[in-house]
Amino acid sequence: MKIVMLGAPGAGKGTQAKMIAEEYAIPHISTGDIFRANVKGGTPLGMEAKAYMDRGELVPDELTVRILLDRVAKDDCANGYVLDGFPRTIPQAEVLDSELAKMNDRIDFAIDVEVPDENIVRRMSGRRACLNCGATYHIEHIPPKKEGICDNCGSELVLRDDDKEETVKKRLAVYHEQTQPLIDFYNKKGVLKEVDGTVDSAEVFAAIKKVLA
Ligand code: AP5
Repeated sequence: MKIVMLGAPGAGKGTQAKMIAEEYAIPHISTGDIFRANVKGGTPLGMEAKAYMDRGELVPDELTVRILLDRVAKDDCANGYVLDGFPRTIPQAEVLDSELAKMNDRIDFAIDVEVPDENIVRRMSGRRACLNCGATYHIEHIPPKKEGICDNCGSELVLRDDDKEETVKKRLAVYHEQTQPLIDFYNKKGVLKEVDGTVDSAEVFAAIKKVLA
């Protein structure tokens, strides 16, 4: 099963993608996590990506596509995957489509997690992320067992640099301009499924399981 997660920054794509990955035993691939791991490791890729991320802009397609195609070519992706944060532009979606078509394959579901902009800024300021294992929490809605510490790996949780209010507003503007057109793109392909992302994360997941059943 090959799944693409759509939705604004902070809509809960990552939260749901991790639950899908566990339930269906497929890898969760987040281009944002890949970039953040590279920023943390101080790699040349990380240094290039960081400048764009800190401004709330997208990393250039050419670089992002190369990283994603390398990742989905790995053995653990043979039975499918859930993509979180990719594609984010029409050119990215077109490359993914044509690479899959070469193998007589296609995306099975594009799940759009719908949350209005006004909820997003509030959510992001409460998000805490683990830069070691990629887990995310929310100080009110999805708190870790021990404040400031990741349940999975025991690392310290941080407020992401790009979760500051001004950067979130910029990311939302970029989303509406460059990523939202993907809703129409996947709708035309007949694989779009929309779920309400404003309810509790367990309820969002129940709705997703229904559409994947
Ligand atoms: P990326 O990491 O992909 O960021 P994003 O799309 O902006 O998404 P987020 O991770 O911010 O949010 P999310 O929807 O996953 O929400 P989450 O589950 O954490 O990308 C970061 C940057 O990298 C980009 O800005 C860009 O520069 C670059 N980049 C990445 N991919 C790229 C690409 N393909 N092309 C070019 N550039 C790229 O949830 C948010 C918060 O809400 C959390 O605190 C969570 O606990 C909480 N929450 C989740 N669900 C609920 C719920 N139902 N109710 C209440 N709270 C909830």
